Amino acid sequence: MNVKAWSDRFALRKAPKLAKVLTAFNANVDAMVFGLHQPAKALALLSQAELAEIEKKCDSELREIKSQSDFFSALLHSVKTGKAMHLHASQGVFDWMGSVFTADETRIGGQAGIMANQLSAFHDFVLTYSSLLSPLQASFFDQKVCFPSTSGKKLVCHPAKKVARKGDATKVNWIFEFKTGEKLKAKSEFHSPRANRLIVSSPAHYTPVFENVDVKQLAKNADVAMLSGFQQLHLDKNLGATLKKISSQIAELKKANPKIAVHWEFVPMEDKKAEKLVLSSVGKAVDSMGINEVEIVDVLKALGAKKEADKIGKLENSYSLYLGARRLSELLKLERVHVHSFGFQLAVLRKPYVVAPDKVRDALVFSSIIAALKALKGSAFVSRKEFEAHALVPSETGFNQIRALEGGLDEERVKRFSSMTRRALLESGIFELNDHYVVIVPSPIVQPKSTVGLGDVISSMALAAERG
Ligand code: GLC
Repeated sequence: MNVKAWSDRFALRKAPKLAKVLTAFNANVDAMVFGLHQPAKALALLSQAELAEIEKKCDSELREIKSQSDFFSALLHSVKTGKAMHLHASQGVFDWMGSVFTADETRIGGQAGIMANQLSAFHDFVLTYSSLLSPLQASFFDQKVCFPSTSGKKLVCHPAKKVARKGDATKVNWIFEFKTGEKLKAKSEFHSPRANRLIVSSPAHYTPVFENVDVKQLAKNADVAMLSGFQQLHLDKNLGATLKKISSQIAELKKANPKIAVHWEFVPMEDKKAEKLVLSSVGKAVDSMGINEVEIVDVLKALGAKKEADKIGKLENSYSLYLGARRLSELLKLERVHVHSFGFQLAVLRKPYVVAPDKVRDALVFSSIIAALKALKGSAFVSRKEFEAHALVPSETGFNQIRALEGGLDEERVKRFSSMTRRALLESGIFELNDHYVVIVPSPIVQPKSTVGLGDVISSMALAAERG
């Protein structure tokens, strides 16, 4: 493969033009704890019996955090496996956490919040709807972000602070970030194979639908709608009505602006029964979905695509993930599935796709750079200046993943391509198949200071650049 073609693409210093984006529904505050010293100190105060209980529970994956020992077990599980985790905690556990841990930094969290602030570093117009907007929450938004109201037929923009609602709760989540090789000791000592984080989500509740805002006006002022926050939903008596409302609002967005791309940034749900229902309603209403290598396995299983899920489980690489993404796009009739993974990203685009695949590829290159810079700095967002000064190069892992995808696709062919054609494909990262394309990009790998929100930044910057 001509690695130079890829290094040249990554030498990008001029940001592409971005589309106008609407982000909704979830913004919160993330209380960041970097490194494991604080939890390690708290663990050291516990009795041997308590430590034994914690260690016993940490083998399985907990669904929620109901006690102090659940918290430590979840953290140990995340550290031991190097897996990202996102769990809800009870108010009691939250109060306890507040008395034991001190945040190293508080910053904007939630998909809609993270995306809005990152986008507004590169675009003068970003539209946001946040289901919760307390004055404290509002203070974390970039003041350029437009919070809409409609006056007559026109959309009017307000800074978050001006339209904050005093009665709204502030959702503050705890984020525990750890590095590769960091250790945590209960009875025995665990080392993390990979930098990652545990998110402990607060019980503050919201409903991810548009309220008191003209959905048509939103659509007319956006090329892309990045929706998320559905992880909040539970199987209760309101779920059916809420899902109906969300789906009809998505239909309304598309009716008012047929060109709008509606994207769902997937976040695993605690309530798996509700997740299945959300997938088959919201999943079928949106055009595009962003998901990572762990989440896609669960989603495929939930949708009954066991073969593809097992294939990723057996050997997780770009080819098995592509097969999973392709299946997902078929099952939910998505025109675009964007998988962000370690060292590479890929997108399955159903034909006829509205954007040329090489533009999609270049958008993925751009979003890879932004995400790697964010990881490296551990910051809430990446500025234009930081982007222009970057010196990142694509990773060897990424190149190997392009080879894996190309190899897998070649084996599917009845008539094999010549080695010259195969080389050209490796260099372009674009593969054309009967009814879809798959685009793959090798991304930089850095030692991250923080991993939270990387998927959000990748997905939003990629789609904004693709539609720009
Ligand atoms: C989820 C979490 C939020 C975090 C975000 C990052 O929305 O609830 O705390 O900032 O994911 O992706």
